[in-house]
Amino acid sequence: MSAADGHIEESTAIITARSDAIVPKIGLVLGSGLSSFADRIDNPIIIPFGDLPGFPKPAVSGHEGRLVLGTVGGTSVATMQGRTHYYEAADAEVMKVPIQTLKILGCEAVVLTNAAGSLNPNAGPGSVMLISDHINFMGVSPLFGEVGNGRFVDMTNAYDKGFLNEFKSIADGQGIRLHNGVYMWFCGPQFETPAEIRAAKILGATCVGMSTVPEVILACHAGLRVVALSIITNFAAGMGDTKLSHEQTLRNAKIATADVHKLLVSFLSSYKS
Ligand code: HPA
Repeated sequence: MSAADGHIEESTAIITARSDAIVPKIGLVLGSGLSSFADRIDNPIIIPFGDLPGFPKPAVSGHEGRLVLGTVGGTSVATMQGRTHYYEAADAEVMKVPIQTLKILGCEAVVLTNAAGSLNPNAGPGSVMLISDHINFMGVSPLFGEVGNGRFVDMTNAYDKGFLNEFKSIADGQGIRLHNGVYMWFCGPQFETPAEIRAAKILGATCVGMSTVPEVILACHAGLRVVALSIITNFAAGMGDTKLSHEQTLRNAKIATADVHKLLVSFLSSYKS
């Protein structure tokens, strides 16, 4: 058994013992500026990542590092309040234990959220973008070292078509403008250069960010359905006139918080297995 497998087993046992028989159906990962969604969880049970073997402790402000179990709109959830990024660990597998633990706990799907820079001139700070596909040109995969044929994951429908349609119709019904696009993963922690953004545009990116893609790959490998939302916090490098910074990311993420909360609550309230 690998160290990661041992951690998944131990973390699953700890969560099950403390979770008052909640079997989560949906796993959520709350990215920069979105951790307040955990306040929407009814009857929350909070477990610090520090208590869970193999759950990395995020060291980026805006990422609390707690697992919150409970229900939203009657659907049981396990919510990661914060994530760890590739750039913190130089390890694309850093989210492997949490994602596989969510699967073993009983999750059928994951909802991943992040902050991102926009390449779409019509989607400025405070917009929300549904990710319909991604580009991984980082040269790394969280599946490096896996064995067996299961590692050759088909990513054609990585972003679940049913969920994409559902989010679009929820947004239409609520009068929320939901953009749609391709997320390109950059390793960070530095922001991109204007030349990198021009290259990303030619390649077909609509937004850029430093997270989520390894989690999508791990989730697909684990057999979880995936939906992912980006909060646009800035125009990408070279497209706007403001200085890019993490403070700006956290500040501007707040503009879209209410819309994202509404989308997530509606999605979870109407979720059926
Ligand atoms: N680039 C990468 N990550 C980001 C950005 C960006 O412009 N904005 C928020 N996260």
